[in-house]
Amino acid sequence: MPSFNKKALALSLLLSATAPENMLAFQSSLRTTSRVASRTISSSTRMFSTETETEKEAGPQVVVNEEAYEKVKMDDIVSLCKRRGIIFPSSEIYNGFAGFYDYGPLGAELKKNVKDAWWKNFVTSREDVVGLDSSIIHNPTTWKSSGHLDGFSDPMVDCKETKLRYRADQLFASPIVLEENDETIGWVCVQEANDEDMVKDAKKMAKKMMKSTEHKEKKIQAFSFRDLTEVSEEEMAQIPSPGSGEPTLTMPRDFNLMFQTNVGAMSDASSVAYLRPETAQGIFINFKNALGTSRAKIPFGIAQIGKAFRNEITPRNFIFRSREFEQMEVEYFIPPGDDVWQPFHEKWMQESKEFLIDVGLREDLMGWDVHEGDGLAHYARACTDITFRFPFGTQELMGIAARGNFDLTQHSEGSGKALDYFDDQTKEKYIPHVIEPSLGVDRLILALICSAYAEDEVNGEKRNFLKFSPKIAPVKVAVLPLLKNKEELVSVARELYDELKKRWNVSWDATGAVGRRYRRQDEVGTPFCITIDFDTIEKDAGVTIRDRDTTEQIRLPMDEVIPYLSKQIDGY
Ligand code: GAP
Repeated sequence: MPSFNKKALALSLLLSATAPENMLAFQSSLRTTSRVASRTISSSTRMFSTETETEKEAGPQVVVNEEAYEKVKMDDIVSLCKRRGIIFPSSEIYNGFAGFYDYGPLGAELKKNVKDAWWKNFVTSREDVVGLDSSIIHNPTTWKSSGHLDGFSDPMVDCKETKLRYRADQLFASPIVLEENDETIGWVCVQEANDEDMVKDAKKMAKKMMKSTEHKEKKIQAFSFRDLTEVSEEEMAQIPSPGSGEPTLTMPRDFNLMFQTNVGAMSDASSVAYLRPETAQGIFINFKNALGTSRAKIPFGIAQIGKAFRNEITPRNFIFRSREFEQMEVEYFIPPGDDVWQPFHEKWMQESKEFLIDVGLREDLMGWDVHEGDGLAHYARACTDITFRFPFGTQELMGIAARGNFDLTQHSEGSGKALDYFDDQTKEKYIPHVIEPSLGVDRLILALICSAYAEDEVNGEKRNFLKFSPKIAPVKVAVLPLLKNKEELVSVARELYDELKKRWNVSWDATGAVGRRYRRQDEVGTPFCITIDFDTIEKDAGVTIRDRDTTEQIRLPMDEVIPYLSKQIDGY
């Protein structure tokens, strides 16, 4: 008969959650690596069944496939997200809606964890940043002042034949030039992708075009791609549209990306308003309110997380570029001066990078992209992107800009209200300058899923799993009673589950062989599995905690479970 006292368990769990000495106790009494655990376990035949066949006795032999990510295609990521309930196409039962996505049960958790981690890192744990949650629709004059009404556009080209619309800077054309005599015999036009894929597509197209001509067997020179904003009218008249295969594209025209709506009962020009294309302007127009009510002193920042909407001409690469997305932005206000902004900019670059690594981005896939010359907005002093190597190529993940005092000056002029700051130390009045780290939640989630994508062999058995950092993993812990039809096991496991659930998103899994349950949790990136076995109720009131990445197991007394997990998940 089980000798375990359930009331004592509940009490010990509660105590362990609050008493700091338990954390010390945990550190001193944390037993063992998996090998020791396996040996301990091997003394009990019942305990064997908490391991998969291949994780038995000798301890796991894990061989990581370091190349797994290199072979991944975007389609693999998209279908993984759908299969595991992370992200679905929006309105799927109506065949979807281009550029919109829905987060499923695990995706919603993941997204919330990412936003909470950002907020904690950049707002609540700092003294110099306050939060804001502004409306999505602002007075439309906001967008006149900010320049979005006149300048927030992308160049587009239309296919006159198919009526399809493309971003001109995402279509690349190249002449097909014969090697023998430099003669241009036609053009190819391909969509932006990584270099290798673009060349592959272009070769296919050139081959097809040459097949029916006298140039069939001839060699051609390497392609020299230019995007369609850089081609002349004569050239455009020869460039085939990706839609029709014929030269039916218009010259590029500007297309404003803001979504329009009407506010109020009237649906005329006077009621036109816009869904915000960035969260930043909500911060600038609240500068005085936030300053006045928080008694902040420069340098200080205002942070906001929220939805942004852009009517992207070609939403693509899944949630990388969508029409509805979320941003996490800080406007960090600093004194003016040519020699002031640089250290702040560098600090924000460093802090942004550290945050991204802390939530689980692979550093080896990250890089810097410093904007120079034409790539820099006219009012900006500097802008550096943090890039990430997605399966479709290296792209911007976030930007850290030094924007001068452009925005506050514009809003001050547009509203007629002074948006300046009085420094009571120097007795100076000035319009502050700003450093703006701006990060897309969805783009970060895609990068996190790519970073977590993992494959290994555990004692010769292939395993695919998601290596999410415990901080952002959608499910933190799974509780597994060894057998679902043994009431004494189930009730103790349930009690532990209920207690853990007060703190984290925890999964209950009582069905199937334990090994199969581990795999199910590995697939969705659950970092810890806790098994309740007969020793728990008969011998040591302990549990087995299995680590997803190493598959190693440790045995811990029940009252040390919460301190252990707190340290692993929350870092304290
Ligand atoms: N306030 C500055 C700003 O909005 P941005 O470079 O246009 O700058 C900042 O956007 C970040 O927002 C990008 O680095 C990206 O992470 C995210 N983002 C922008 N457009 C997006 C889109 N269409 N879909 C998903 N994320 C997007």
